[in-house]
Amino acid sequence: MIEDMLRTPAAVQDAERHTAHNYHPLPVVISSAEGAWVTDVDGRRYLDCLAGYSALNFGHRHPTLIAAAHAQLDRLTLTSRAFIHDQFADFCRELAALCGKDLVLPMNTGAEAVETGIKVARKWGYQVKGVPAGQANIVVAEGNFHGRTTTIVSFSTDADARADFGPYTPGFKIVPYGDLTALAEAVDEHTVAVLLEPIQGEQGVVVPPTGYLPGVRQLCTERNVLFIADEIQSGLGRTGATFACEQEGVVPDMYLLGKALGGGIVPVSAVAADADVLGVLRPGQHGSTFGGNPLACAVATEVVRLLATGEFQRRSAELGERLHAGLHALIGKGLVAVRGRGLWAGLDIDPALMSGREACERLMERGVLAKDTHGSTIRLAPPLTITAEEIDHAVEQLAAVLAG
Ligand SMILES: Cc1ncc(COP(=O)(O)O)c(C=O)c1O
Repeated sequence: MIEDMLRTPAAVQDAERHTAHNYHPLPVVISSAEGAWVTDVDGRRYLDCLAGYSALNFGHRHPTLIAAAHAQLDRLTLTSRAFIHDQFADFCRELAALCGKDLVLPMNTGAEAVETGIKVARKWGYQVKGVPAGQANIVVAEGNFHGRTTTIVSFSTDADARADFGPYTPGFKIVPYGDLTALAEAVDEHTVAVLLEPIQGEQGVVVPPTGYLPGVRQLCTERNVLFIADEIQSGLGRTGATFACEQEGVVPDMYLLGKALGGGIVPVSAVAADADVLGVLRPGQHGSTFGGNPLACAVATEVVRLLATGEFQRRSAELGERLHAGLHALIGKGLVAVRGRGLWAGLDIDPALMSGREACERLMERGVLAKDTHGSTIRLAPPLTITAEEIDHAVEQLAAVLAG
């Protein structure tokens, strides 16, 4: 195709013109998708190895999820929580069962689930633990990513995410990720929760040392502190299990879920916890107009049912081994490190070769979509429906990019 006949350059410019520049997307303009593949406005196909930052764990337009959405669109889309709708109970019951918890509180975005978790933990601290009014603190980790609200960026250690958005919300203590001693020192009698990602996705798929998560669990139990696991990116099959915590034999007090819960169709997030924790909320104390709406519940119930089969977790574990074996073979050949679990990988490119951004641009030219994070790191998180051949294809393209 002759370069000046392509629709992409004008479409890229068009997309930039009337939008705040809060993202730096790759210059690809996608117009349709199916499974692990997307097609751009010029008809070029790409293997999607980002999957909407894990929001598309079941691939683009999974037939079961699309059917549920279509059927619900034809019946009922929104009631608000002022009334009960007929999709609500099934979703809450089935998600609670998947999480092994009593209760679920549905919201929309991941950041809202995190905010909900913080509010619930504080209320639990005052009402159940007996922390004096206004004194609660929550311990978080360096390198965290929990979203973009003013409270959440208050405890970010990423200067881009945080700078110039103050004044910041007090009540958070930051400790190095993976350091149990530092955590134990930070927890005091006013600590109501430890909030952690079991694997830090945005930081570059950073897996904590073995024993860390069980250690956090034990510390929280001993000190009467809630362990809040932000599984918004790591959960729902991504790491080869329903929850990343599960792979360390750990059950947190509260799961924060989002992304894949909406099946790549609607934003759906949720907090899951037992009644002694989530039960502290009373009418009027928290909510969302769209949280738990009929369309969201109809799609997310099918997501939970897909996960209840275990098929996607198994695929992620098995195919993840293939992905990681392929990537590890590239260490010393352009990669300096590979981290991750299941179909989730953070790759550090040799910075002498190229930046993460450059690598992603070159991958894109070869028909593979991935996204850089923090300089020389690339994150791979393909749909869990990806095939072995497609994984091999992605690894081959990466090898070719690294070979120059
Ligand atoms: C671990 C984690 N928590 C929270 C969020 C925020 O989710 P959202 O962008 O839906 O607000 C993200 C998003 O990347 C995440 O990775």
